[in-house]
Amino acid sequence: MKIIEPKAESAISYGGLIEKIEILRSTLRWASKLERPQIQKLLSQCNALRDEVMQLSRKERFVTATASAGAARKQTTAQRRKALLDRSFVFEGVFGESLKLLDALEIAEKAAPTDLPVLIDGESGTGKELMAKVIHANGNRADQPYISVNCGAIPDNLLESELFGHKRGAFTGASSDRSGKFEAANTGTIFLDEIGELPLPGQVKLLRVLQSNEIQRVGSDKTIDVDTRIVAATNKNLMNMCREGTFREDLYYRLGVIQVTLPPLRERKDEIPLLIEFFGDEAAEKLQRRPVKLSRRLRTFLLDYAYPGNIRELRNIIFRIACLAGDTADFEHLPESIRPDVKEAKPEEGEEVQQQLSLADAKKAASDAAERKFLEQGLQEQAGKVSELARQLDMNRSHLQTLLKKHGLRSKDYRAGS
Ligand SMILES: Nc1ncnc2c1ncn2[C@@H]1O[C@H](COP(=O)(O)OP(=O)(O)O)[C@@H](O)[C@H]1O
Ligand SMILES: [Mg+2]
Repeated sequence: MKIIEPKAESAISYGGLIEKIEILRSTLRWASKLERPQIQKLLSQCNALRDEVMQLSRKERFVTATASAGAARKQTTAQRRKALLDRSFVFEGVFGESLKLLDALEIAEKAAPTDLPVLIDGESGTGKELMAKVIHANGNRADQPYISVNCGAIPDNLLESELFGHKRGAFTGASSDRSGKFEAANTGTIFLDEIGELPLPGQVKLLRVLQSNEIQRVGSDKTIDVDTRIVAATNKNLMNMCREGTFREDLYYRLGVIQVTLPPLRERKDEIPLLIEFFGDEAAEKLQRRPVKLSRRLRTFLLDYAYPGNIRELRNIIFRIACLAGDTADFEHLPESIRPDVKEAKPEEGEEVQQQLSLADAKKAASDAAERKFLEQGLQEQAGKVSELARQLDMNRSHLQTLLKKHGLRSKDYRAGS
C-alpha cells in the first residue's frame, strides 16, 4: 500500500489516513457478504494503516520537526552518510549507505541528547545492543552509568527483583535489602534487552517508572525516585504481542516514543565489505596476527551469503577464519553448516583460470547454501509450520514447498518431538 510522505507542518495527512481506516472499518461492518480472503485483506489493510499512523506521528514529532530533516531528504545517501561522519556522531562500528540504516542512525542521533525512551527493534544480530550504547554515548548522560539487563536471560521470578531491587524477607533467599538495576542506572541509562520477555507484572512496574520516575523494591511500599533513561530492544513484533495481549499497549507506546528499526544485513549488503574489513582488523588485533587474505571465491561467497544471524554471524565467521586460516582463507575455513559443496580449487599455478572457471559454480553453490540455511533456520523458528513460514517470508506457500523440496528439507523434521 502506498502511503503519502508526511509533511512536518500538516496534521492533515493523519486525517486522510484515519479516514481510510474508517472506510475500511465500515466496509467490514456493513458489507452484506464478505469472503474470508477479502476480510483478511481488509483487516491487514487496517493494521497497516494503523501502524503507519503511529510511525508518522513518531517521525513527525521527533525527526521531521527538526530543521535538518528537510535538508536530509534532499541529500543523496552518500551525502547523508558523510554528514553523519562529519558531525561528531560517535559510532563504534561501520555503516554503509542503506536508506533504512541511515534513517535509523539519524533518528538515534537526534534522540540521543534527549531523555526520551527509545525502542530499538530488529532481528537478532543486527546491532541493537551496539545502537543502545551509541545512544548513550551520544547523549548528555555519556559519563553516567550504562547498565544493561537482558530480560530474556533472567528467570521470571527473579527479574523484578533484578530490575527494581527487593526488601529483606520479600521472598525466600532475600536475606538483606538490595537495590536493583534501575537504581544502579540512576542518572544514566538502562538498556532493557529482549523487552518482549518481560512478564506482565513487570510491565506494570516499568510503566510506572515511565509515568512517574519512581520504583518500589519488591516487598516494599516505599517509593524511590529514579532518573534513569530507558532504552529497550526487541526482536519480537511488540505490536503483534499487544494484539495477542502478551504486551501492554500503553507500555508499548510509552517505550516507543522514538523507535529505531535496524534492517537485517541482507537488506544492507553494501555494508558487508566494510564489515569484513572491520572485523578482519579487529580479529587480527585480538589474535595478534597479520590480517587474513580471502580467496576470491570465499570473498564472493561472503558478499552473497544471506546471513540469517546478521552482523553477529558475519563477525563470528571472520573470527573463525582468522583463527583457522594461514595466510589465505578459503571455503574449508567456513563453518561446515554453510560451507558450499564444491570441489576445492587448488590455489596454485593457473589459479586465475581455475578460479574464474569455477566462479559461476561457486556463486551458484554459495547462493544455494545460503538459501538452504535460511530455510532451515526459518523452519526451526516456526517449528516446522510451513504456512507460518510462508507468511513470515511473505511468500506463496506452494513456492515455498517447491524450494523446500529442492533442498530436501522436510518440515516434519522440525516439528516438536521429532
Ligand atoms: N555497524 C556495525 N559495525 C560493526 N560491528 C557491528 C555493527 N553492528 C553490530 N556490530 C557487532 O555485531 C555483533 C552483534 O551486534 P549486537 O548489537 O549484539 O546485535 P543484537 O543486539 O541486535 O543481537 C556485536 O559484536 C556488535 O558489536
Ligand atoms: Mg542483543
